[in-house]
Amino acid sequence: FNTIDDLDLDGKVVLVRVDINVPVENGQVTDATRIEKIVPTVKDIQAKGGIPVLLAHFDRPKGQKVPAMSLHQLIPALEKALGQPVKFSEEAIGGPAKRAVADLKAGDILLLENTRFYPGEEANDPTFAASVAALGQVYVNDAFSAAHRAHASTEGIAKLLPSAAGRLMQAELTALDAALGNPERPVVAIVGGAKVSTKLELLTNLIEKVEHLVIGGGMANTFLVAKGIEVGKSLAERDMADTARAILEKSTATGCTIHLPVDIVVAREFKAHAETETLPADQCPADAMILDAGPQTVAAIKAVFEGARTLIWNGPLGAFEIPPFDAATNAAARDAAALTKAGKLISVAGGGDTVAALNKAGVAGDFTYISTAGGAFLEWMEGKDLPGVLALAKR
Ligand code: 3PG
Repeated sequence: FNTIDDLDLDGKVVLVRVDINVPVENGQVTDATRIEKIVPTVKDIQAKGGIPVLLAHFDRPKGQKVPAMSLHQLIPALEKALGQPVKFSEEAIGGPAKRAVADLKAGDILLLENTRFYPGEEANDPTFAASVAALGQVYVNDAFSAAHRAHASTEGIAKLLPSAAGRLMQAELTALDAALGNPERPVVAIVGGAKVSTKLELLTNLIEKVEHLVIGGGMANTFLVAKGIEVGKSLAERDMADTARAILEKSTATGCTIHLPVDIVVAREFKAHAETETLPADQCPADAMILDAGPQTVAAIKAVFEGARTLIWNGPLGAFEIPPFDAATNAAARDAAALTKAGKLISVAGGGDTVAALNKAGVAGDFTYISTAGGAFLEWMEGKDLPGVLALAKR
């Protein structure tokens, strides 16, 4: 695909699809990472003489104009990140949007209203895509984290205008290719989270691609059940035990070693600072639940890291939101960060929970790359083609 370097942007209106779907509480942006990450793209477009017009979705208004989901509320955060005023159009298409674009001068930035206020966006309606495309002369997609959606602003419009990947899109694709597409081996993947059922495709793809797969979180309990181990009152999908067993068996054939917890941290209640016990993985009491991996598991994971060149991480190892059940996730995160800093490991992580856990552990900055994507990161790790990326391919 093209990048910003390949296109003539001088004097042109550049429609830039960004993902600024950030968490907002009481009108305040609580994590501006995604907004900060669009700055290089916007600045590079301006440096080449282009006028950026930002296209984005926010939340899931389902084709309705929901005032609480207006992008207008993000203007202060955008202005802070970009260091200049950002103009706003209350419509993403039609007369008002055309007038807002016609008023732009060199150096301006315009944000269009939430594309998901229009039913044509998620339907990927060609007429809607054409109405948006008519506002500019060039399209830049910088929204890797929305690239798993085949929507008008992420996919349809790329077919209508000269298109390029933005800087964040480039960085995401480069990092992910280095982690799983064409990685330095051995590769270790950590997959955590509550359920096997939601990560089945991921596990199935990874056992084909990586040398080591560490399974953590609630889904590890399902694997313990598959091995005939009792897990008491732990979260486990007993109806997925056969599936988990099939994955364990297949991994032997594909040459992937699956690592399950060897020791567990259990409690009778899931609450902060509950009384805990650390036990061998096959000794969960009938009235207790597994809420984290134990120190021997952390040591085993560290040894796997030390023998690996690349780590790709999606999902926490325990119930990290509530201490002390964040201990294994924090310790493994610190081990990965230290090896990365020492130049021994290439570490890539993605997914909302994972990034929150690494931030909480205070080590996100030491990882080689932290993706801004949640669902898109997962789909990419599952080996799926992302429509927003495919649409950028040169024709
Ligand atoms: C995300 O937050 O992962 C992206 O912005 C996509 O949002 P969506 O899941 O509502 O499509």
